[in-house]
Amino acid sequence: MSGFRGRDILSIRELSRADIDLVLKTARKMVPIALGKKVSRALEGKILSTLFYEPSTRTRLSFESAMARLGGRVLGFSSAEGTSVQKGETLADTIRMVEAYSDAIVLRHPQEGAARLAAEFSEKPVINAGDGAGQHPTQTLLDLYTIWDEKGGFDGRHVALIGDLKYGRTVHSLTYALAELGATLAFVSPPTLEMPREIVEHVKERGLSFRMAHRLEEVIREADVLYVTRIQKERFPDPQEYEKVAGSYRIDTDVLREAKRDLIIMHPLPRVMEIAADVDRTKHASYFKQAFNGVPVRMALLDLILGGS
Ligand code: CP
Repeated sequence: MSGFRGRDILSIRELSRADIDLVLKTARKMVPIALGKKVSRALEGKILSTLFYEPSTRTRLSFESAMARLGGRVLGFSSAEGTSVQKGETLADTIRMVEAYSDAIVLRHPQEGAARLAAEFSEKPVINAGDGAGQHPTQTLLDLYTIWDEKGGFDGRHVALIGDLKYGRTVHSLTYALAELGATLAFVSPPTLEMPREIVEHVKERGLSFRMAHRLEEVIREADVLYVTRIQKERFPDPQEYEKVAGSYRIDTDVLREAKRDLIIMHPLPRVMEIAADVDRTKHASYFKQAFNGVPVRMALLDLILGGS
């Protein structure tokens, strides 16, 4: 039996290399089921709650798809509007209720640390689907799956993370994971949106090779993976500060002339203006495949946690 059964997934830092390896290998086996080519009832009788206090398309729907593909059921909400949160119910009380209605809880919340708090009030597993500017561990697992699937591994691969490295929770989680897996990192951002100091310190302590830059041109030639992120408008305390950095980077086919032939471009999505539509037709574009990978990866995780296999 794996160490996943009944486990909370709150931060990617709590997963070992062996844990990550198991999720990736299990996810690969799930692909035919995720594509509807094979049928599984592994989670029949199980109920997943999805509590989304912030907007989502991919995370919520891919969890729903993952559960349905394994024969399980989903209940939940896609916004706190229309729930008793509007009457002032606390997160702790909501979690106590939902725990009684389901076998696991997926939570997205604007406050950093919300998923950890929820886990304190639930005996059932809690999966962090994004807590403010904190972490998004299941996104990281699907990002890792995409790199592993497309590039065959992590060690020595040059991964350039570009955009909003300050508020972007996906790049925080991904950096912690790639630091364990031996990738070579480049952090490209406007000066005001650099990777938080504690994460950079963590990378340094791991003894990894990395660089910080403000211009994409400084790293594009050596990158194997370009991980593009949206500037997180909703997290800026001052809208004028957002306006100063909006549109800082735009990947188009001109920029890609300098890139390696087998560079892959990833993006957690949604994109706004960071990647031009003409890039979608190039062999570099991996972001829609990456979004699909959310289904087999979340199937793997749910199956491991809820004991389907
Ligand atoms: N990548 C991601 O978290 O997308 P959503 O916000 O649509 O869930």
